[in-house]
Amino acid sequence: MNDHSDGGSIRKLWAADGPAFRDHLLRLDPATRRNRFGMVAGDEFISRYAKTSFTLDTLIHGVFVDGHLVGVGELRKLGTSRTEAEAAFSVERDHQGHGFGSRLMKAVVLSARNRRIRRIYMNCLASNSQMQRLALKAGAELEYEGGDVVGLMVPETPSPVSILREAMGDGYGWATAVVELQRRSVIDGLFGRA
Ligand SMILES: CC(C)(COP(=O)(O)OP(=O)(O)OC[C@H]1O[C@@H](n2cnc3c(N)ncnc32)[C@H](O)[C@@H]1OP(=O)(O)O)[C@@H](O)C(=O)NCCC(=O)NCCS
Repeated sequence: MNDHSDGGSIRKLWAADGPAFRDHLLRLDPATRRNRFGMVAGDEFISRYAKTSFTLDTLIHGVFVDGHLVGVGELRKLGTSRTEAEAAFSVERDHQGHGFGSRLMKAVVLSARNRRIRRIYMNCLASNSQMQRLALKAGAELEYEGGDVVGLMVPETPSPVSILREAMGDGYGWATAVVELQRRSVIDGLFGRA
């Protein structure tokens, strides 16, 4: 999950990553934004959305390239259901087609599996062939409803191996975050930033 095959590393985001998450969404070009939200989404809407995204019901994985967040996979529980969730993905235009979406999908599905989520829904526009390809590759069934497509995935039940895989990914993610924090404090120190 955390290989650097295409120069990126994946880890879970924490509340402290809120501003980076918001800035990532704000950097999405108009077409990517429209595909992500299924509608035209303005800056104000995105800022509000980002602010409310770090809740107990939401788990977000991010892919970092050179310390910058360039893509995310969000898993959000649906209503009061303990076993149903919705997943959403976004990768910035310059980083699309490098396998980051596929790696985020794997991380999201593994986390859902370990949380005993039995159904993951993914909504996208019917014209969004990239997302449909990503969902199909992950084993989702696609249903066409007017101008939208709903993907349904049924994760396997958790196993000791799946739990260990997530724990190892978390350990690695924690370590890379600490290294990144140290790198930033050195740079801030060198340039005299507060
Ligand atoms: C969907 C998205 C997250 C995929 O991210 P990505 O990093 O480009 O994904 P990958 O590089 O892993 O590619 C995923 C698959 O899409 C395929 N793909 C890439 N561009 C494509 C295109 N224009 N048309 C069809 N398939 C395409 C890739 O070939 C790959 O399939 P493969 O492994 O069989 O070759 C990204 O395109 C994106 O952010 N789109 C806008 C937001 C969005 O649509 N979100 C979904 C709704 S929540």
